[in-house]
Amino acid sequence: MSERLKDKVVLITGAASGIGAQAARQFVAEGARVVISDVNIDAGSKLARELGATFVTVDVSVEGQVRSAVSLAVEQHGRLDCMINNAGMVGAVGSILDTRADDWHRTLSVLLDSVFYGIKHAGAQMRRQGSGGSIISLSSLAGVAGGVGPHAYSVAKAGVIALTRGAASELAQYGIRVNAVAPGLVVTPLVDKVYGGRDKAEQGAVANSPLGSAAMPEEIAEALCYLASDEARHVNAHTLVVDSGVSVAGSSASAQFHARPAGFLGTMPKQYQ
Ligand SMILES: NC(=O)c1ccc[n+]([C@@H]2O[C@H](COP(=O)([O-])OP(=O)(O)OC[C@H]3O[C@@H](n4cnc5c(N)ncnc54)[C@H](O)[C@@H]3O)[C@@H](O)[C@H]2O)c1
Repeated sequence: MSERLKDKVVLITGAASGIGAQAARQFVAEGARVVISDVNIDAGSKLARELGATFVTVDVSVEGQVRSAVSLAVEQHGRLDCMINNAGMVGAVGSILDTRADDWHRTLSVLLDSVFYGIKHAGAQMRRQGSGGSIISLSSLAGVAGGVGPHAYSVAKAGVIALTRGAASELAQYGIRVNAVAPGLVVTPLVDKVYGGRDKAEQGAVANSPLGSAAMPEEIAEALCYLASDEARHVNAHTLVVDSGVSVAGSSASAQFHARPAGFLGTMPKQYQ
């Protein structure tokens, strides 16, 4: 591994599992000093011990806890260079006609309010430091393409992209870059729950990939490492889609057109007849 994140102080939310845990591993391997945060105390503190990182309990839907996590990172390491707003879950599922307002609000609080808190408090700290920084939030294919995820989840993840663009345009004056990563289906405990087990999750991920292979947390962690690094110093307000091309190539609706013999469907304009 190169040490492209040497001595950068990085706070990752939801880092006890899946993409966040793998990001913690790869950030440490790249030389970063990592603060792992999560509501899962056992898994989060175990990973922190394994990596020689710090662990802090944070519920990202509570603004004061996100603010405290930023303060703790600064107390421990003297500064904050990178904030990864990663914590998440699926949230409200089922028909829009039956969705309870409480479930809708809870979903948005964990997936979208949290990103607002993360950008706000990490951004304020980075502005005080006066040497820029990188804030990266997890969006999703569900926020990019229509009809892919549950309703509240998709709205939250589309909101992450809008907030990323808005915050990036404001915070650029302080040298703070704000970007998002939008994964397609990645094999993690979150997806295991959706599919009912790891084997089925892997099969689902392969079936959903135009490249015919399952995306693993390593691939998303790699995108996060790049956006956190100085190699991405001019990448700002961007949503890096890591979905094997599903968002443009994978829908079954377009596949039926690709399978037809080449030709023209519809009335040919006169000048071409
Ligand atoms: N796995 C995918 O296919 C996929 C695709 C697109 C986007 N994402 C996004 O990537 C992020 C990580 O997902 P994952 O697949 O690694 O899931 P995961 O379930 O493996 O990990 C999510 C972590 O977030 C933590 N968490 C949940 N609610 C929290 C809260 N209120 N406060 C703090 N921590 C909390 C969990 O304890 C867990 O450790 C999420 O934002 C998810 O929406 C995942």
